[in-house]
Amino acid sequence: SSLLRSVKTLAKPTAARGFSSESVPDRKVAVLGAAGGIGQPLALLMKLNPLVSRLTLYDIANTPGVAADVSHINTRSEVAGFVGDDQLGQALEGSDVVIIPAGVPRKPGMTRDDLFNINAGIVKSLCTAIAKYCPNAIVNMISNPVNSTVPIAAEVFKKAGTYNEKKLFGVTTLDVVRAKTFYAGKANVNVAEVNVPVVGGHAGITILPLFSQATPKANLGDEDIKALTKRTQDGGTEVVEAKAGKGSATLSMAYAGALFADACLKGLNGVPDVVECSFVQSTVTELPFFASKVRLGQNGVEEVLGLGPLSDFEQEGLEKLKPELKASIEKGIKFANEN
Ligand code: NAD
Ligand code: LMR
Repeated sequence: SSLLRSVKTLAKPTAARGFSSESVPDRKVAVLGAAGGIGQPLALLMKLNPLVSRLTLYDIANTPGVAADVSHINTRSEVAGFVGDDQLGQALEGSDVVIIPAGVPRKPGMTRDDLFNINAGIVKSLCTAIAKYCPNAIVNMISNPVNSTVPIAAEVFKKAGTYNEKKLFGVTTLDVVRAKTFYAGKANVNVAEVNVPVVGGHAGITILPLFSQATPKANLGDEDIKALTKRTQDGGTEVVEAKAGKGSATLSMAYAGALFADACLKGLNGVPDVVECSFVQSTVTELPFFASKVRLGQNGVEEVLGLGPLSDFEQEGLEKLKPELKASIEKGIKFANEN
């Protein structure tokens, strides 16, 4: 379209902006669902990331406007908007990282699994296109239910013969962001210094924050740890209820998504010791997918790290979450193979 062309013309190629390809490699990032509640602020944050040289924004509607808007920001990346199925291939071609926040969000009273019927199909069709147009890309799956959409993506890629378990990530960073914020508040420590691993999955009790490993150390009692755990597990619901029918977390999620994509880009660029929690193919437990700390590198997952020492409370939480997580994984696999 002419609008699309004008968006492209407005964004000058990176070379003309004086970035040396020696110091900062070219990296292309695509956002699928870029006109949505998460997609728009995530597009903004990725436009602010100096590691990105080209940013493509795809949605089924409204992306030309979002792309035109974001493209005026005077940062490195060239921005282009693509809309509708016909343009999905162009949006994906050459991508190093594809971030997927496409799909419907929860309303009060719903679980993430209630989104399965709509979002499973969306994720399946987007992943089919990824297998065709950018089979080597790192995929950051945000669309819920993550515990099922990641296994769906894996099955789609397996069928296409493009599956690389090192390049498929369920984004659980928001759970870590929440755990850090809530811990800092309760422990009265500087939030900027806080680290808390969050393992398991991304729904209710499958979200297992490991506060026994939190730093800086604080002497919180059992009741405090229980309350912090519950608040982290229910963080998404807290936002869904506060938004009262107008969707779920978008701004904190865009922040978390941008943080995780930045970690993937740093890994690709060879920055050492980039470690983030993510829901990935795993042998850490008997389940085929599990969230834990992951070291990121030039090929995506460099190493899936173990859980470390767990408290009795965490060990109990781990055993409790397994049946639900297993069922969600199996539901995703079954859907991908039957549809
Ligand atoms: P939203 O409805 O505001 O935006 C979703 C966007 O996806 C819309 O613009 C819509 O047009 C687009 N879309 C729908 N079908 C598409 C397709 N086939 N291709 C491309 N785009 C398509 O919703 P939102 O608040 O941005 O949430 C999006 C998803 O992210 C939801 O499933 C939500 O549950 C999930 N989410 C996950 C996390 C997490 O921690 N992983 C956090 C928050 C939200
Ligand atoms: C979240 O954790 O905020 C997201 O998964 C959205 C939701 O439905 O809670």
